Amino acid sequence: MSQPYVIDKLISAKAIDARLEELAREIRQRFADTDKLVVVGLLRGSFIFIADLVRELDMNVEVDFLETSSYGNAMESSREVRILKDLRGEIGGRDVLVVEDIVDTGHTLAHVLKFLEARAPRRLETIALLDKPSRREVDIKATWTGFEIPDEFVVGYGIDYAQRNRNLPYIGKVRFT
Ligand code: IMP
Ligand code: MG
Repeated sequence: MSQPYVIDKLISAKAIDARLEELAREIRQRFADTDKLVVVGLLRGSFIFIADLVRELDMNVEVDFLETSSYGNAMESSREVRILKDLRGEIGGRDVLVVEDIVDTGHTLAHVLKFLEARAPRRLETIALLDKPSRREVDIKATWTGFEIPDEFVVGYGIDYAQRNRNLPYIGKVRFT
């Protein structure tokens, strides 16, 4: 069992909603000439974000998933990233948008991009709901970011702490009591 903690609200469901509308507008513009965009969610943390995002996109999309894992404990992201589940579909020559929950050290996104680039997509862009720039170890930034946040451990809207709190409708930060 983990130590007791409370969750302080950081980003409301309403603020997430409003930001998603803005991001969707930019994404639609960027991919205006694409007949079918492949939207790739990184499991598990992006499952709510991708569900809301594709409903805002109002364009022809194919949804696929990639699962990564990192060794390490619940709060420490490790530097070693493995692909646990590959895409079902082909992305060669296609336009791809990778959807990530948080860019923290940057190792996960860097590894995933390298893995997907090897399949020669026509275009490969990324969106992260959250970004913790102060934690970066790899020089990488998503094409679009929902919110920059300070170095806090967050949960909700798909994001977990030891597999808990993914179903919170907002983003909160974990505070140990
Ligand atoms: P990175 O490889 O260090 O950029 O870590 C990315 C992954 O670590 C994210 O996709 C999350 O799954 C996890 N992660 C990073 N920060 C947090 C957090 O504050 N709460 C929960 N998971 C996090
Ligand atoms: Mg993740």
